[in-house]
Amino acid sequence: MILRPLRDTADDLHAARQVATEAFAALGAALGDPPEPPPTPAEVDRIDALNRHFVRHDPEGCWIAEAERGGGGGQALGVAVASRREAVWGLSLLVVAPGAQGTGVGRALLQRALEYGQSCPRGVISGSRDPRAARAYWGAGFALHPAMRLQGAVDPARLDAPDGPVTEGGDPEFLDAVDRKVRGGAHGPDHAQLLRDCRLLTVDAPGHQGYCFIDMSPSSASEAEPESGAVELMGLCATTETAAARLLTAALRDVPAGRKVKIPNVTAEQRWAVDVALTARLQPVPGGYLCLRGMAPPVGFVPSGQYL
Ligand SMILES: CC(C)(COP(=O)(O)OP(=O)(O)OC[C@H]1O[C@@H](n2cnc3c(N)ncnc32)[C@H](O)[C@@H]1OP(=O)(O)O)[C@@H](O)C(=O)NCCC(=O)NCCS
Repeated sequence: MILRPLRDTADDLHAARQVATEAFAALGAALGDPPEPPPTPAEVDRIDALNRHFVRHDPEGCWIAEAERGGGGGQALGVAVASRREAVWGLSLLVVAPGAQGTGVGRALLQRALEYGQSCPRGVISGSRDPRAARAYWGAGFALHPAMRLQGAVDPARLDAPDGPVTEGGDPEFLDAVDRKVRGGAHGPDHAQLLRDCRLLTVDAPGHQGYCFIDMSPSSASEAEPESGAVELMGLCATTETAAARLLTAALRDVPAGRKVKIPNVTAEQRWAVDVALTARLQPVPGGYLCLRGMAPPVGFVPSGQYL
């Protein structure tokens, strides 16, 4: 096996997407999940744009494992994508092709990705339900916090109006300041990347600050039925439970009744999220682990799977 940096080329981005699709499909099948449809062209563009963003900003955090030249001829075996944002290291992707799993490829990729974060006291990973992933992250010193995904068809009329003002949009410096207070490091360039596809809501009241990104037209929606994909919470960060609940309430009340919604990475600490989501008739399902190093789960923090 050869490990080399993942590059911003069509071949590498294709390999990363292909290995991820196959690895998650195999995991879903092993866990008895219904099969996912293949990614739509819009989804392909979004996945490639996401990986390109990290390759450009974090070239030393993104790695690809390939078969030695010869029999396997440079075939992609696995990919890791990690970011470093001030004091916070995050793992956006770790996947190994099904045929190569369980042979140490994931461990080797994770090792390279972790080296990139050596200077960061904090780390965040949205861990899947794969026990090998949990074991690898535990072995790297991360605490495993069981997480739920709040999902289902939303009934926004069940929610009372937010208990204070919520604004559309927000200043990048404000977002970074909230990040520093809540998770110990600003997202910096990630916010602009998120704004390409997501709606941004902010709360800026005395003693209560926060923001959230919501993907209202996810690329998994089919071209024929643009409303079919689940609206997804792509990160919520707030200094208080009040601000956090206000943001989630405002976000869910704006979703048309009956649309599917997905809120990943909720742990027992975000009781406000469970209260708001279950009031709006969403359901909790097991969602893997929120893996944290150097920090306990902040109360006002629901990270997205990729930007963390
Ligand atoms: C999770 C994943 C990246 C791990 O990579 P891998 O190459 O298969 O795993 P490795 O061989 O490097 O082993 C990782 C750890 O799991 C252990 N492991 C291997 N097979 C295992 C099994 N069947 N059950 C439990 N643990 C197992 C290994 O012993 C190793 O732990 P150790 O270092 O303490 O010995 C890979 O299996 C994968 O792509 N899974 C599907 C996608 C996914 O869930 N990715 C993680 C997203 S957060």
